[in-house]
Amino acid sequence: MTDMINIALPKGRLGDKVYNMFERAGFECPSIREKSRKLIFENTEAGVRYFWVKPSDVAIYVERGAADIGVVGKDILMEDKTNVYELLDLGVGRCRMAVAGPKGFSYDRDNELRVATKFVNVAREFYASSGTDIDIIRLNGSIELAPILGLSDVIVDLVETGTTLRENNLEVIEEIAQISARLIANKASFKFKTSQIEHIVQKLEDTIDK
Ligand code: PRP
Repeated sequence: MTDMINIALPKGRLGDKVYNMFERAGFECPSIREKSRKLIFENTEAGVRYFWVKPSDVAIYVERGAADIGVVGKDILMEDKTNVYELLDLGVGRCRMAVAGPKGFSYDRDNELRVATKFVNVAREFYASSGTDIDIIRLNGSIELAPILGLSDVIVDLVETGTTLRENNLEVIEEIAQISARLIANKASFKFKTSQIEHIVQKLEDTIDK
């Protein structure tokens, strides 16, 4: 009997989409669709066990080997720098990481730029590369409020449709990165379960809308 592959999926809308991809790829687990509060589901025949994990925790489960593989947004990988392999761009959950600010905002270089964000490491790195002095204000959500209330000059945040920015009179100033969901693997699991993991990667690749 081959080992089960433990898969951490991000709970929520992205996770539902990603599970559908696994299902189409042949790794279905019908019990996952039953309404329940269970967090672990397995299909021994297909050799897969799924966990629903908070999206920002997926990479930690994978890095520490509690899951062999998982799916996580590139934004979280950029921010947390976990020690995992990034195997595949799944092409879903697409958005942009960007600097945004009030319409027509121009930066006066004599002052520190006040940046509100959840992504403090991404923001620090981005501004370090241009030698800009910044004051980071770490927030956990509704980041768009910060420049409106004068808490910050700009924000570093995810932009999907652009609606949140538009409806709050903000606009993208600079794009930092293109974001999408990535399949990641634990380094030791990849070494010891190479053929099973590569098989999953191959099958998932075939389901991606090109
Ligand atoms: C995200 C992001 C933006 C918004 C962008 O927030 O932080 O606020 O979505 O989407 P849009 O460009 O399609 O409007 P989320 O809904 O995850 O909530 P948050 O405020 O807790 O970050």
